[in-house]
Order: sequence, then structure tokens, then C-alpha cells
Amino acid sequence: MIHATLHQLKVFEATARHGSFTRAAEELYLTQPTVSIQVKQLTKAVGLPLFEQIGKRLYLTQAGQKLLETCQEIFSGLDQFEMAISDLKGLKQGQLRLAVITTAKYFVPRLLGPFCQRFPGIDISLKVTNHQHIQERMTNNDDDLYIISSPPEQPDLKIYPFLENPLVVIGPKDHPLAGKTNVPIQALNGEQFVMREPGSGTRYAVQKLFEAHNVDVKVRLELGSNEAIKQAIAGGLGISVLSLHTIISEGTSGEFTILDIEHFPIERHWYVASLAGKQLSVVSEAFLAYLLEESHTLVEKFLPGINRVPNSDKVALDPKAEGGKSSGKVLTKTP
Ligand code: PGA
Repeated sequence: MIHATLHQLKVFEATARHGSFTRAAEELYLTQPTVSIQVKQLTKAVGLPLFEQIGKRLYLTQAGQKLLETCQEIFSGLDQFEMAISDLKGLKQGQLRLAVITTAKYFVPRLLGPFCQRFPGIDISLKVTNHQHIQERMTNNDDDLYIISSPPEQPDLKIYPFLENPLVVIGPKDHPLAGKTNVPIQALNGEQFVMREPGSGTRYAVQKLFEAHNVDVKVRLELGSNEAIKQAIAGGLGISVLSLHTIISEGTSGEFTILDIEHFPIERHWYVASLAGKQLSVVSEAFLAYLLEESHTLVEKFLPGINRVPNSDKVALDPKAEGGKSSGKVLTKTP
């Protein structure tokens, strides 16, 4: 058995992550010589070099890489243990890292309020970004839970549908198609259009539908924010397709109207997802259960007209089957 202290393992892990004694020292509020002494002692205990220095940067040796993996397992086990103990004590404590797609920012903060009141010991970090960036964050295992609309095929996920997220055509109140019903989609040919940026799930869904029906809009502007698109529509730059949630607070009484175009709304759902192999913390499990069991009641209050996905508190779906519009097959039952 190697004689290493937890402190030495923490120092080693930070050094490996930064590839630098100095940066590890900064992160841990230690001096640089303290860090290098701890690593030296650990190296002696292991009996093989853990780093090799090339230029100013430290690189892990094979033994170092193995030790880093072991450290990560130990620390994540300890985190789980700490949270399980807090749970046994009846105090849910710890951190919840959430990443949500842009449209979910219209309701997730409202759901977080009552959750935080129930569990005041929980710290939440919330990242709002587009589909592509969420996928990158999944690959890097950056978060505990993700709220998405188009589950990617990779990485492997457990996904749970919970609410509808319809995409509608939004135009200015005085648009010639305003007030008309069931307008053929071909009428959008040549329309001035404001498009979301590449990497956006909304853009992908719109392009897929337009391609399927040979619709060719004139993209005047590409914008990376739903709010900016609303301003562009109000400013007369064209029409767009956005999630209904983006206009729910102002409704259609203001500067916008929903155009009734054939094949719209594009029916989509929100899913809450976690990486398939990830051991969820007690806090994440609590938030997942809260979202699936209670989001619909809260959403009925805040977002009338948005429906819950049937059985959303019971099943996780196969993301590969859900990528399109198929109903998806049941993978796992939620506890
Ligand atoms: P996006 O996702 O921000 O990537 O367009 C929004 C959504 O899919 O609802």
C-alpha cells in the first residue's frame, strides 16, 4: 500500500490539471516550493516519476496518468459520500451544475426558486448556451444535468422528456400574412428571415423543415440570441422561427404575432439529460425528481398552454430514437 496523504493527492491532481506547480500553488493557496515538495514526496512513495518537464510545462508520465485517474475516482467517491451523508442528516447540500439551451432560460430560473427554498444548502451554477456548446460540455463532462431540445446521438445519455417546446413562426404585427389561417409553407419563399447562428438547435430544426419543403427564405441577418431576434423582428428586419417560450412573457399582444403557417409549430420537447455512465450526486437526483414531478405544476402557473409530455415522470428515452420525431423507446424507469 502506497503511503500518500489526501493532501498530497489533491496537490498532485491540481498540478496535473494545470501542468504547472505555480498554477497549482495559486489554486490551492500554497507556495510553489510547498507544492513541489508534496509532489516529490508522493513520487518517492510511488517509486516512479509522475511528471516529466519539457520546457516550462509538466507532462504526466504513464504512472502519473494512472495516479491521476485514481485521484479522480477517489475525489468523486468522496464527493458522493459527503452528499450522501448530508442527505442522511436531512440537509441536502452540495453543488448542482446545470447547462440549459437558450430557450430553457425562460423557465428554468423560475423552477430554481422554489427548489432553492426547499434546499437552501445547495449552490447552483447555471450555464445557458446553444445546442452545439451543450454537446461540447457533455463531452467534457462539465455539468450534472442538461436541459436540451434535440438530444445528440453522442455522447450516450439518459434522457427524460418533460415539457413541450414548440417552434413557431413569429412576425411583426403588420406582416401581410398576419391573421391569415393555415397559410401554405410555400408562402415563406423569398421572405426576409432572421436566422439563429450555426450550432443552434432551432436553426437546425428550421433548416430541416425548409429543406424538406423546398422553401427558400432570404436570410438578412444571423443572430446568436433569441432576444436579439425579437428586437430585429420588431425593427422590421423580417420574420423568424423561435420557441414559443421566447414570447410567452409578452404574449402576442405586443409587437409580434404568430403566423399560422402549415407544418408549424415544429413539435419539440424539452428533455432533462445526464451522461449515461455518470453517477448522479444526491443533489442532482433531487433536482431531476423535482423537475419531472413538479415542473408541470409550476409551468401551468407561469406558462399556461404549455403541456407536459405524458408519462414524463416515469421514463427515460433512447436518445437515438428521439433524435427525430419518433416516440422513442423506454430505456430505464426513473426511481
Ligand atoms: P438553441 O436551442 O439555442 O440551440 O437554438 C434552443 C432549443 O432547442 O429550444
